[in-house]
Amino acid sequence: MVYPDHYDCPGHLKFLHKKFHPPAPHSAYMQCTWLGHSCVLMKGTKKVIIDPFVTEGSVISTNPDIVAVTHGHHDHLGEVIALKKPVVAISEIARYLKGQGIPAEGMNLGGTITLDGVSFTMTPAVHSAGIDSAAGSLPGGAAAGYVIRMDGVSVYHAGDTALFLDMKLIGELYHPDIAFLPIGGRYTMGTREAMMAANFIGAKTVIPIHYNTWDPIAADPVPFKIALERTTDLTVTILKPGESIEVSPSS
Ligand code: NI
Ligand code: MN
Repeated sequence: MVYPDHYDCPGHLKFLHKKFHPPAPHSAYMQCTWLGHSCVLMKGTKKVIIDPFVTEGSVISTNPDIVAVTHGHHDHLGEVIALKKPVVAISEIARYLKGQGIPAEGMNLGGTITLDGVSFTMTPAVHSAGIDSAAGSLPGGAAAGYVIRMDGVSVYHAGDTALFLDMKLIGELYHPDIAFLPIGGRYTMGTREAMMAANFIGAKTVIPIHYNTWDPIAADPVPFKIALERTTDLTVTILKPGESIEVSPSS
């Protein structure tokens, strides 16, 4: 079902939308860069980095304003402490990071917070959620994804997750313009599940992530792209680590 307006609330809830999501200052476009694995850099009015982990080099020089972390596994926390920037995370991870001297804003599934004009809605993810710390694995609450809205663009980053039916709600409520979906299998969805996820979410542009970082999550994004584009009006854009895509707000 597609609601007649492109906002993130059904029409009859639009008064709530206006109250809680005042229009963001507009820019021509927002740029999203896939830095590799699950790490995405959003550049608009502000710079937001999601899951600041890369296998080669460092993300420190991206100098983000805000860091968002989907869950506590090492391949997502990455350089979150070394960055020394404000972090958005689930309460348990936020508490852990505060203990490490990092300014962190705790939140939980289904909630939204706005920082510097960027709104973060924490969406469910079906995945385990320990915090990989120097002291071993600590309880990390639950794994999450995010819908992040900046400059009128809505970006869905699924985090690490299995396919789940409520992805339809993410599409209906938040109308993401672009969706970053894991396709590597083994620890997350594979391409078969990600095809259905893309259909549920309905974002016009789909970017595969969390694959080919290591052998156990080897995946070929090309058949995924061909199959999804043949059966839907969605576009799969295969990026190489470090490549960017410009995203305009859908009208
Ligand atoms: Ni994980
Ligand atoms: Mn992972």
